Amino acid sequence: MSTVKENLTRSAELTGSDSARLDIEVLLGAVLGRSRTWLYTWPEYELSVAEQQSFDNLLQRRRHGEPVAHLTGEREFWSLALKVNASTLIPRPETELLVETALALCPGDRLRALDLGTGTGAIALALASERPGWDIVAAEKSADAVALAEENRRALQLDNVRIVQSDWFAQLPAQKFDLIVSNPPYIDAADPHLEQGDVRFEPRSALVAEDAGLADIQSIAQCSGEFLAAGGWLMVEHGWQQAASVRAIFAAAGLKDIESREDFSGWERITLGRKAN
Ligand SMILES: C[S@@+](CC[C@H](N)C(=O)[O-])C[C@H]1O[C@@H](n2cnc3c(N)ncnc32)[C@H](O)[C@@H]1O
Repeated sequence: MSTVKENLTRSAELTGSDSARLDIEVLLGAVLGRSRTWLYTWPEYELSVAEQQSFDNLLQRRRHGEPVAHLTGEREFWSLALKVNASTLIPRPETELLVETALALCPGDRLRALDLGTGTGAIALALASERPGWDIVAAEKSADAVALAEENRRALQLDNVRIVQSDWFAQLPAQKFDLIVSNPPYIDAADPHLEQGDVRFEPRSALVAEDAGLADIQSIAQCSGEFLAAGGWLMVEHGWQQAASVRAIFAAAGLKDIESREDFSGWERITLGRKAN
């Protein structure tokens, strides 16, 4: 049998991954039910036959490109441990910018918020964890993703979020929100990145939109007026080259105070605007 230390040196087996060492640590930690720190504290621990087989199996699947988050069934977002599966997007760290911006823009304790295309529930649950007094609706089209978001909501005991199945606003009863956030599909169907890395294992319905990736943002912006309270904010994540188009879509939808915000790399990745008072 091999030790933890020996298994940690198998990065060369993951040539296709640009985070081979980290992948090995996370997968080995998941098999042993231990933290990454534990692995370095107990390098001489010898894996049992079952543990070794389980790790070898995960490593092989990773070699074939399966995302680490699908192999462990979990991904951290905004310090929340979220279950993930193939029904929706694996939450990305860049989406935390949307959460951060929403919290800064809306400091109040009482607010009605809507997260459109909630997926794992990432954005809605992060907002709920920070603002227990907010009343949050999280809408999602995929029934499997709705079930996943509900499982995450229950595990985190965030009772101020309601997960509902809806095709954007279509199945929502008439109501007003002070804040609508969304990380909708925004990748162009012809984008070559769709054939690379983790996205190959994520559903196209979570990634791709018509009209060079802008169709869903357009639908959301157009219908948002009916669901926004006076002065309420709409905020969406989009691709790094889409900010000018999204600002134009927001303007055509009648929104005011439109601006885009940059991520840590200096790319404009979110755009916001508000309904006039
Ligand atoms: C880019 S993923 C974002 C998931 C999650 N909000 C996040 O940031 O990790 C887009 C999500 O929108 C959902 N979606 C796609 N079309 C939709 C529609 N017409 N109505 C509601 N949700 C939709 C997808 O199923 C997917 O879960």
